[in-house]
Amino acid sequence: MIEVRNLYKTYNAKGKPVEALKGVSLSIKEGQILGLLGPNGAGKSTLVKILSTIIKQDSGEFEIDGIAYQNNSEAYRRKIAVVLQNSSLELWLSVLENLRIYGKFFGLKGQALEAAIKKVTEMFGLTPFLHKQARELSGGYRKRLQIAKTFMVETKVLILDEPTEGMDPLVKNDLMKYLRQEAQSGRTILITTQRIEEAEALCDEIVIINNGKIEAQGSLMELRRQTALNKRLLLHFNALDKHKLKAIEDYCGEKGLRVSFSGSTLVHTNDAGIDALLEGYRQIADRFEVESMEILNPSLEDMFIKVVGGGGK
Ligand SMILES: Nc1ncnc2c1ncn2[C@@H]1O[C@H](COP(=O)(O)OP(=O)(O)O)[C@@H](O)[C@H]1O
Ligand SMILES: [Mg+2]
Repeated sequence: MIEVRNLYKTYNAKGKPVEALKGVSLSIKEGQILGLLGPNGAGKSTLVKILSTIIKQDSGEFEIDGIAYQNNSEAYRRKIAVVLQNSSLELWLSVLENLRIYGKFFGLKGQALEAAIKKVTEMFGLTPFLHKQARELSGGYRKRLQIAKTFMVETKVLILDEPTEGMDPLVKNDLMKYLRQEAQSGRTILITTQRIEEAEALCDEIVIINNGKIEAQGSLMELRRQTALNKRLLLHFNALDKHKLKAIEDYCGEKGLRVSFSGSTLVHTNDAGIDALLEGYRQIADRFEVESMEILNPSLEDMFIKVVGGGGK
């Protein structure tokens, strides 16, 4: 549904080039939610702005539902509803007028338009503000209005740039629920976030971007598989006193096992993979009495730290 191939974008910041995208490719299938996860400055908004046709890439291509912007800009624009990171509201118009203009652009009119407005103002708690100017709304409510607009229409694709930034948790929960419903009804969604737990909770696919480059991508399961190296082994001991703890530490030190303690639980990590983890377990268990054992999958957070923490320019 969304195909992005090898996008490059360099800004000129006061004569100094800033490479915001360095060959970004991704694809999103119909009805999927893809989370573009990355820290501040990673290039998320640049990608979103290119796809929204607000700025132009230096090179590379993209298309949505088989349509490239340069071939049919009108058709392309009608395929997507976008929530930009920085407000794209008519600040001097009322909430109602903002919604009307947006709906009309996508061909809504009469009863259908009024029904769509009613639906989204209720969804996002905007009904009491219908006649206020957008500029009179607080930041959080402006964001709600921006997002509400995209739920009025039935574009094939929905693109949201950090929509949950500064949003209160209740609304955030609602938004997550609404987005899942939209995906179920067949809309394809690209959402950017800096928040791992959001990507984890919402997205079918996750793309980790850092310094303008994609560092990892896949379903949560695939990302976990890629970080199989980071699996951790937890050994729970019964009543671990100071002496026993010291003895275990010394023993592990001798054997070259990388361990740390949290209470009476020993955490063993090994970059060499699961077999080496289990071998370490065998050695420790031979010598000390282990109460129980657990193998933890790496969390998306582990993955993120590994990818982003380790990724230089
Ligand atoms: N208009 C601009 N002029 C110069 N540099 C920019 C501009 N917009 C973004 N950048 C730079 O491009 C990089 C990527 O920015 P951005 O796409 O906004 O990242 P993100 O949305 O992931 O925080 C950053 O280094 C940012 O400072
Ligand atoms: Mg951004």
